[in-house]
Amino acid sequence: NKNILQDSHGRDHAYLRISLIERCNLRCTYCMPEEGVKLSPKSHLMTYEEIYDIAKTFVDHGVTKIRLTGGEPLIRKDIPVILEKLATLPAELSITSNAVIIDKFTGVLKANGVNKINVSLDSLDEGKFKHITRRHEFQKVYNNILLLVKEGFTVKVNVVLMKGFNDDEIIDFINFTKDLPISVRFIEFMPFDGNKWDMSKMVSYAQVMNYVNASFSEENIIRLQDAPNDTSKNYKIKGYKGSFAIISSVTNPFCDSCNRLRLTANGQLKNCLFSATESDLLTTLRSGNPIEPIIQKAVQAKLKVRGGMDTLKKLQEPKLHSNNRSMTAIGG
Ligand code: GTP
Ligand code: 5AD
Ligand code: SF4
Repeated sequence: NKNILQDSHGRDHAYLRISLIERCNLRCTYCMPEEGVKLSPKSHLMTYEEIYDIAKTFVDHGVTKIRLTGGEPLIRKDIPVILEKLATLPAELSITSNAVIIDKFTGVLKANGVNKINVSLDSLDEGKFKHITRRHEFQKVYNNILLLVKEGFTVKVNVVLMKGFNDDEIIDFINFTKDLPISVRFIEFMPFDGNKWDMSKMVSYAQVMNYVNASFSEENIIRLQDAPNDTSKNYKIKGYKGSFAIISSVTNPFCDSCNRLRLTANGQLKNCLFSATESDLLTTLRSGNPIEPIIQKAVQAKLKVRGGMDTLKKLQEPKLHSNNRSMTAIGG
């Protein structure tokens, strides 16, 4: 089917991640450098009409799932209209947020069919949260996770693990799922511009399972069925209401089942989280030309594998520097 976004390795792309804004109300160390990042001028950011037009083209070509990301997507002033416009498209709409201000948006999210929310939270300790985010917002995020669950949203909590910093909280996070029907997902730390990635800071899938195996007996650790194209390997502890999972882009990359494309806040299409090149959809759209041929070309150019230890290690070598963005300007 010519209408489907299939790449040269046979992967269909049905999932579009749209970054709405590069700015964030937190300053997580693994996401952006202390001094912040150079932001795109406002005139280079997609308006809500442009977001809709571009998203519609993707949906017309087989995209069935759209995730809004940032920076922090909820600090965009026009987030209510963005949600309203996108909700008219026949695609599932979801959001990844740091949840600092999400209590003010539960109504508009629900009204527009957003039922699944992924929240970033890297520590259950207030002091450590402040250290990693450089902001004092722990209590708000924690309370908002409880609020989202109470309001019936499906909640996943993303925990980026860093050795010696929060790997001692793995079991606390799993126990957080005992009475709370959420999925806690431990994420292997990945390299991006300005985040000082180094293999020794990463906590691997295998290391997470070592902690789990040391704390729970084998018959209580249940391997769940993963959804197709899932980024995570899912587990639960017998009798717990929630579940936990590991996103192992470094030690167990999942590129063979990748169905994701990314649109940055300034309207550039990235065919992979780690792609060094981008395709300028926004300039094309603004000049009145069709964006579809550019999308097809970018999908065709997608590499088979970009995750994995060897590839990612190379991104850190200055000579081979990938020219990628910082995470805050990609959206995860
Ligand atoms: P679901 O739709 O709930 O499955 O969420 P998701 O895992 O697709 O998205 P989320 O925004 O919650 O991201 C969780 C983590 O997975 C982040 O660290 C992302 O960077 C990472 N991630 C998401 N998609 C990809 C991908 O295509 N490749 C890699 N390597 N990592 C990804
Ligand atoms: N490595 C792995 N995950 C990251 N995220 C942000 N930066 C990194 C990184 N360097 C995750 C956050 C957020 C998601 C979109 O991406 O946990 O929830
Ligand atoms: Fe897809 Fe690239 Fe992530 Fe691999 S590294 S899963 S190809 S986005």
